[in-house]
Amino acid sequence: MSLVSLSDVLKPANQHGYGVAGLVVLGWEDARAYVRAAEEVRVPVILQAGPGCRENTPLPVLAKMFRHLAEHASVPVVAHLDHGYEIDECFEAIDLGFSSVMFDGSKMPIDDNIECTAKIVARAKAAGVSVEGEVGYVGYADGANSSGTNPEEARRFSEESGADAMAISIGNVHLHQTKAAVIDFDRLAKIKAVSKIPLVVHGGSGIPIEIRQRMAMESLVVKFNVGTEVRMAFGQGLRRVLSEDPELFDRVTILTNAEKNVYEAAKVVMRSLLGDKQPQLDT
Ligand code: 13P
Repeated sequence: MSLVSLSDVLKPANQHGYGVAGLVVLGWEDARAYVRAAEEVRVPVILQAGPGCRENTPLPVLAKMFRHLAEHASVPVVAHLDHGYEIDECFEAIDLGFSSVMFDGSKMPIDDNIECTAKIVARAKAAGVSVEGEVGYVGYADGANSSGTNPEEARRFSEESGADAMAISIGNVHLHQTKAAVIDFDRLAKIKAVSKIPLVVHGGSGIPIEIRQRMAMESLVVKFNVGTEVRMAFGQGLRRVLSEDPELFDRVTILTNAEKNVYEAAKVVMRSLLGDKQPQLDT
């Protein structure tokens, strides 16, 4: 059994200066590919069920699937709820056996964000579950604009909410299909100077590989959410498989073959966060 909490993987990552990938799961094949990639690279992995995934697959199914993968993995696996917008959604995930939940209160006034996050933390702590919060809205490519994290709000959140990790907005943007993000290192330095908890960047796909590596090695930013990069790899895999054999119709054959692209892409992400480090794994 190697289901672990987010804190279990972020603490050593922070201590030793490497990052851990939080990978967006959309189904069985990509989740399985992520765990296989983590086993190959010998790193922990965070399986993330975000809003798009939950719209398609019921949360109880995802909880069982993540736990099953974790129980059979030879590396630590975190079963994480990504972007919970309601307190009850986070409570449900905790009750279903997720080992980590994110409450996204980044659009709320900071007092409300802290209060809601703290309510989730109280329930999560009792169940041995970690909580990630967010301060400063992270926007979407071709969508809503970001509002950068205010360092003073980040300080308060890190001291008052009880959360185990804090997602921040420093030029990272969700859903970039190219490495277009420009990271504001001045803002990051101000946040790092006052934050008592590990930091998370969403929108990892848009961040150039060498910048991800630099952020991971300089410590405190330890969780990198990546979705689009690996989703694009799955799409390319599907197109490859279908064009190689236009007669192919069996779903399992198609998806299993396409999974290889995701497996390779996940390994690239994982290695990009290690630099010259190699995590010590107990499992
Ligand atoms: P990308 O799809 O931009 O990598 O973002 C993923 C993410 O942040 C999930 O929370």
